Amino acid sequence: MADISTSYMGIELASPVIVGASTWSRKIEHIKRAEDAGAGALVIHSLFQEQIELETEELDEELGAHGEEFPEALSYFPHMEHAGPREHVMWVENARRAVAMPLIGSLNATSVGEWVRYARQLEEAGCNALELNLYSVETNPDKTSSDIEKQALDVIATVKNEVSVPVAVKLSPFYTSLANFARRVVESGADGLVIFNRFYQPFIDPDNERADISLDLSRQEDTRLPLRWIGILSSALDVDLAASTGVHTGKDVIRHILAGAKAVQCVSTLYQNGLGRISEMNNDLAGWMDSHGYGDLEDFRGELNRRNIGDPYAFERAQYVQLLMGHRMDTFAV
Ligand SMILES: Cc1cc2nc3c(=O)[nH]c(=O)nc-3n(C[C@H](O)[C@H](O)[C@H](O)COP(=O)(O)O)c2cc1C
Repeated sequence: MADISTSYMGIELASPVIVGASTWSRKIEHIKRAEDAGAGALVIHSLFQEQIELETEELDEELGAHGEEFPEALSYFPHMEHAGPREHVMWVENARRAVAMPLIGSLNATSVGEWVRYARQLEEAGCNALELNLYSVETNPDKTSSDIEKQALDVIATVKNEVSVPVAVKLSPFYTSLANFARRVVESGADGLVIFNRFYQPFIDPDNERADISLDLSRQEDTRLPLRWIGILSSALDVDLAASTGVHTGKDVIRHILAGAKAVQCVSTLYQNGLGRISEMNNDLAGWMDSHGYGDLEDFRGELNRRNIGDPYAFERAQYVQLLMGHRMDTFAV
């Protein structure tokens, strides 16, 4: 039987399938079941900068200042009094006692601040690594791409300075020059990149004339975007990559490893199919490796990345031109 173990940021994982940050980690029972199903690691749901700032009352004051103008802003943080950062750290300690598999703590932040001390607390609570999610939507036209990138790089360097465990950065695809920014993220100390963070977009409901946001699960096709960038970045950078978004089946795991990933993260498929999906993915991966004569993941990792694929344009614009120019009208019902 093929060996499906991998190393991610220097941490040995029994499988490349990681349970991504999500509400799966809010029950110890689920964390144990993920381990039993053969998960390589699990990312604990994020501790948000806003949660920590609320505790230190920085944000409280800010919200108070705008409270009359935007009273609904206060409802963005409904339950935080009872789920503050200290409870979060205690939760990580509980999870650590419950399982042996590697646990990755997640911090969700946009700028350097008081909250950074929680990086060390998550490490002390037993996290084997941290993941930094830099989700932000920049709406200020005065802010340049350099300003935005510098702010993110400062956060990464500050967190790296705070802890000795490896730090992964969960990137968004929306940077002007993603390859350049990813390289600078690595130069700022990131030991791994999670490709990509999923942005939840607002939608407008014409019946009630209001804007809403819903948490839509991904579809398998969504994995094409991370797949392209895993293929590009694994050729260009010396850093461990974990694919995230749209990894739903064992075949998707194989695709991402062929493109150069060290690991994959799954969330939506587990909500849709249950935690048993992890063992299915592991079995499918091992079965495929056996049938292709591969003993371990390094035998084929990166075989189809941008450098190795044999067609240097496969990941680039030429592929798009060929696709659109070559399309035949009769393939759609018109
Ligand atoms: C219910 C739910 C909760 C999530 N919570 C977090 C979180 O706390 N931190 C985070 O970085 N991502 C969070 N995510 C995003 C996932 O980690 C992941 O990036 C996204 O779902 C895309 O992966 P998928 O296609 O496998 O679902 C959450 C996703 C879902 C569906």
